[in-house]
Amino acid sequence: MHYFSKATIADLNTRYRNNLINSISGYKSANLIGSISENGTTNLAVFNSIIHLGSNPALLGFILRPTTVPRNSFSNMKKTGVFTVNHINKNQIEDAHHTSAKYPETISEFDQTNLNPTYKGGFSAPFVEGAPVQIACRYVNDYLIKENDTRLVVGAIEGVYVANEMMLDDGWVQLDLGEVVTINGLDGYALPQLLQRFPYARPKEH
Ligand SMILES: Cc1cc2nc3c(=O)[nH]c(=O)nc-3n(C[C@H](O)[C@H](O)[C@H](O)COP(=O)(O)O)c2cc1C
Repeated sequence: MHYFSKATIADLNTRYRNNLINSISGYKSANLIGSISENGTTNLAVFNSIIHLGSNPALLGFILRPTTVPRNSFSNMKKTGVFTVNHINKNQIEDAHHTSAKYPETISEFDQTNLNPTYKGGFSAPFVEGAPVQIACRYVNDYLIKENDTRLVVGAIEGVYVANEMMLDDGWVQLDLGEVVTINGLDGYALPQLLQRFPYARPKEH
């Protein structure tokens, strides 16, 4: 196997190290965060760090990069209190990836891609039309991770829309039926396929 020591990793060129370290934590969630500024400019950005924080209360989180440059999604959600999390369908990957380009806050990524905003349920932040899972979130808190100046942002789930064909009787959402993609590293998009579901695991009886 290829071995990288801590010293080797420290000496790698930035792009190589970014690719390596971003890939090895495994397949990651692929989401678009939708938000809107106080003066009504929409914003859309791809995030691969959305995680489940808890079901009751229903919370999710994501990691925000250091705020050394403007972070439009973050400043919008702090000011308006709301944002959306939208899963990425395989037909949306090129546009989804493009939302990571550094546009100023006056330019909406919805206008720079074929992704369209949609509004529902009286929620003021934009959802992504055609996203197979769309989650309305309220900004709750953020915690500085002092080791690298990133932040864990906590969102409360206020409402969830799931495409009918993905919704199973027991509440389980079968992501592959919506052709929801996953992210390998920072620029590789893949389409997972369900192998099997298992019952709740219990210790073996000897
Ligand atoms: C695949 C991918 C995943 C990303 N995931 C994150 C992430 O989890 N957290 C983050 O802060 N930025 C992430 N980014 C970078 C943001 O998409 C990028 O900084 C974007 O410009 C943020 O837009 P905003 O300033 O409008 O919020 C990611 C970029 C790519 C290409």
